[in-house]
Amino acid sequence: MSKASPLSIIILAAGKGTRMKSALPKVMHSLAGRPMIGWVLETALALEPEQVTTVIAPDQDEIKNVVHPHQCVHQEEQLGTAHAVQQAKESLKNFKGTVLVLYGDGPLYTPETLRHFLKNIQNAGADFGYLGMTPDDPTGYGRMITDKDGYVTGIVEEKDADAAQKKINLCWTGVMAGSAPEIFDLIEKVDNNNAQNEYYLTDLPALAAREGMKTIHAIAPIEETLGVNSRAELAVLESKIQDRLRARAMEGGATLIDPASTFLSFDTKIGQDVVIEPNVVLGPGVTIGDHVCLYAFTHIEQANIESGAEIGPFARIRPKSSVGEGAVIGNFCEVNRSHIEAGAKSKHLSYLGDSIIGGGANIGAGTVIANYDGFEKHKTIVGPGSFIGTNSTIIAPVTIGEGAIVAAGSCVTNNVPEDAMAIGRARQENRDGWAAIYRGKKLEQKKAG
Ligand code: UD1
Ligand code: MG
Repeated sequence: MSKASPLSIIILAAGKGTRMKSALPKVMHSLAGRPMIGWVLETALALEPEQVTTVIAPDQDEIKNVVHPHQCVHQEEQLGTAHAVQQAKESLKNFKGTVLVLYGDGPLYTPETLRHFLKNIQNAGADFGYLGMTPDDPTGYGRMITDKDGYVTGIVEEKDADAAQKKINLCWTGVMAGSAPEIFDLIEKVDNNNAQNEYYLTDLPALAAREGMKTIHAIAPIEETLGVNSRAELAVLESKIQDRLRARAMEGGATLIDPASTFLSFDTKIGQDVVIEPNVVLGPGVTIGDHVCLYAFTHIEQANIESGAEIGPFARIRPKSSVGEGAVIGNFCEVNRSHIEAGAKSKHLSYLGDSIIGGGANIGAGTVIANYDGFEKHKTIVGPGSFIGTNSTIIAPVTIGEGAIVAAGSCVTNNVPEDAMAIGRARQENRDGWAAIYRGKKLEQKKAG
């Protein structure tokens, strides 16, 4: 391979993923809020390739949306990994350079490891490189056979290996690279004379050696080589990715009191001096500003939490919402498609839906915005500095003016002007002595049996 040769990446994702027992293609299963294939694509793009081609099965077109604008090619039948790579030949017909093959179900590789691997191939002046690993238990993997200089002369699949070969613990990770167009010419020569009657990508090193071409190997950190074949492995990878995201948040200046119970998403952005208490879940699309406090059992999705805000404990911020600077959303409050402006407070037991809560407004405990009439959602605007008394029901659409007060227990159905007081509840009536008379009657009845 020539120095600094252009790079093209092929991601193999056409496998059936039978062990997932799912209607969803394996690589569409989510890890930290993003399909598995999205993680592989991000790593691929970090290597600045000229082109990324994903090989999918014909019934997996939903993968196209995730890798867009990068192309997908169909592998009509899953005839093996070499056959899968060959499906990209047409889309790479004008490409001369290095082709890197990744698996769509191996999302943990870091760009550093892959860069290092490609550099090794380049430095050795080799034609191919196979990325190896040395797992404690090599069962199931292809075993790499090397000569005295460390060049790979063959790879034997578990199902085709003899007893001695099964003892080899240098295994193939599934990551390989080779020169194009030569790699496609060599794949033409791969046959399916093996236990699985598949066209194996593992056959290339032996074929290459026969043609006088060299295949080097490198060793990947074992924790990056984990892949997903089952739901149990999906859970293992979720926790690995969560650990990386937690580490990144802490490096960025956030305190995670219990990292193990803090769940983040691939795109979570967290500022400095943020404190996150245990059992907090941040779904996709969340940005947390500096000095924010997320108290225990807070759940946030698709929302922007600005600096100094306090959320929770036991609060839920739903999509398309924002909580402004220094605003407080307290226990058992739900915010949905709403903007809580700077300094506003809703400290207990409220539902704020399809609303704008103006700066500094105070929302009393038990306030509910009735935003849905069974058919449509309606908007509510609560003016800045207004005060909504406890247990008020605000029936949308309604606008409450700046500085207005809503008396506790009101049902607000009409707009409230600026600085006005709205009271919408039955007037209280006191009946003197009524309770004593009532008790007397009841006691007499009881005595009479
Ligand atoms: C493969 C390797 C094995 C290696 C292991 C590492 C071969 C023959 N074996 O085995 O040496 O140790 O990976 O995990 O390559 N795929 C397609 N089309 C196909 C077949 C597979 O796109 O026709 C894709 C799958 O979606 C998957 C990847 O290729 O992402 C690997 O396929 P899989 O069947 O899981 O191979 P392994 O048995 O893991
Ligand atoms: Mg596999």
